[in-house]
Amino acid sequence: MSFDRTVKIAPSILSADFANFGAEIRAIEDQGADWVHVDVMDGHFVPNLTFGPPAVKAFRPHVKTFMDVHLMIAPVDPYIEAYAEAGADMITAHVEAGPHIHRTLQAIRAQGVKSGVVLNPGTPAEAVADVLDLCDMVLIMTVNPGFGGQKFIHSGVEKTRKIRQMIGDRPIHIQIDGGITPETAPLVVEAGADVLVAGSAVFKGGSVDNPEVYGQNIAAIRAAANGV
Ligand code: DX5
Ligand code: ZN
Repeated sequence: MSFDRTVKIAPSILSADFANFGAEIRAIEDQGADWVHVDVMDGHFVPNLTFGPPAVKAFRPHVKTFMDVHLMIAPVDPYIEAYAEAGADMITAHVEAGPHIHRTLQAIRAQGVKSGVVLNPGTPAEAVADVLDLCDMVLIMTVNPGFGGQKFIHSGVEKTRKIRQMIGDRPIHIQIDGGITPETAPLVVEAGADVLVAGSAVFKGGSVDNPEVYGQNIAAIRAAANGV
């Protein structure tokens, strides 16, 4: 994947029909999704449970674009190999999930997949300063992780601006996750973000039988983000 800072929309399949992931993934990609965002939760680091490696492996053949696996689990390190083998193109891990984020990012890269570091809303930008060179992406959470459909936390906008400055001309994406809508997308893109995760704002009103709605929702976020 070549690096660029154009706006990319990454629908979170946390808001998809859980009985129909293959068709849901194909539908969002047909309707303009750039990446597919997979939220992995362990009922310990966050108060919700989702996908183990076998589930992610089952998603893989349906993803034609780029599968970004957001690990909200602690500990992280014992599971990196399994999620890489399940077919993740990128694995992101939280700085809050353990004492050794540097080691975790090295372990992700050692699997030959892209690496990303994640910050919760309560964690300052400076927490990633010393690991940027181990990252292909910084993910800034604009909700407390665990659930879709929450309200955007605005302090993420200034955090994005700071991290964009820290990155300089290094080829590192900035992803935003939580409460992204056509209203909030332009705020974070203006501050320097280029990958927008959206769950409820993409899936609302649509279905695999009515996928054009997904397309309209993705287009609305992209247009707002690009100031069209
Ligand atoms: C939250 C997840 C998000 C979530 C976003 O813990 O990391 O990816 O699905 O959902 P929305 O876009 O509905 O806030
Ligand atoms: Zn996520």
